[in-house]
Amino acid sequence: MLKISTLAAALSVFALTLPAHAESFTPIKDPKIIAACGECHMTYFPQMLPQASWSKILSDPSNHFGEDATLTPATQDYVLNYYLNDAADVQSTRAAKKWMTGVDLKNPPLSISTAPRFVQKHSEREFTSMWNRKNVKSKSDCAACHKDAQRGIFEDD
Ligand code: HEC
Ligand code: HEC
Repeated sequence: MLKISTLAAALSVFALTLPAHAESFTPIKDPKIIAACGECHMTYFPQMLPQASWSKILSDPSNHFGEDATLTPATQDYVLNYYLNDAADVQSTRAAKKWMTGVDLKNPPLSISTAPRFVQKHSEREFTSMWNRKNVKSKSDCAACHKDAQRGIFEDD
C-alpha cells in the first residue's frame, strides 16, 4: 500500500507541472532522427499518425512534400522503424489515442495537418488570420504557435 500511495503522490506532483489541458509527447532525443528529420522543420512526433500513414510518408523521401529528403538506405530503414515502433496505433499514451480518434485506416492521413485531431483543433475559419501571420510559414510550422512543440508540449489556451 505504501508503494501505491507513493506512486500516487509522485503522479500528482507530475500533473501539477503541466497545464491542465496540455497534450504532451516524449521529446525526441535520438540524434539520428533529429539529423534526418529535424533539418527542414520540427522533428514530428510518431504518435501523431498511424503506421499506415508513416509507411506512405516515408516510402519515398526523394519526393517528400516537394522536397528531396533522400536518405541512405540504412538511415531510411532506421527512420521508418523508429516511426512505425512509436506510431499512434501502436502506442497507448493519451496523446496517441487522441490522434487515432476518427482516423480511417483504409484511407490514412498523409500528413499531420490533415489528420482528424489536427483538423478538429484548428478550424480554418478561426485560424485564417493566424495562418497568415508573417511568422507562420504553414500549418506544419507547429512551433510558430506552440513555442514548446519540440519539447512535446501543445497547450490548449
Ligand atoms: C529537405 C527538407 C526536409 C527533410 C530532411 C524532411 N522533411 Fe518533412 N517536410 C519538408 C517540407 C518542405 C514539408 C512540407 C511543409 C509544409 O507544408 O509547410 C514537409 C512535411 C512533412 C510532414 C507533414 C507535415 C504536415 O503538414 O502535417 C511530415 C509528417 C514530415 N515532413 C515528416 C518528415 C520526416 C519523418 C522526416 C525524416 C525522414 C522529414 N520529414 C525530413 C521537408 C523536409
Ligand atoms: C497558427 C497557429 C498554430 C499552428 C501553426 C499550429 N497550431 Fe496547434 N493550436 C493552435 C491553437 C490556437 C490551439 C488551441 C485550439 C483550441 O483550444 O481549440 C491549438 C491546439 C492544438 C492542439 C490541442 C491541444 C489540447 O490540449 O487540446 C494540438 C495537439 C495541436 N494544436 C497540435 C499542433 C501541431 C502538431 C501543429 C503542427 C503540425 C500545430 N498544432 C500547428 C494554433 C496553432
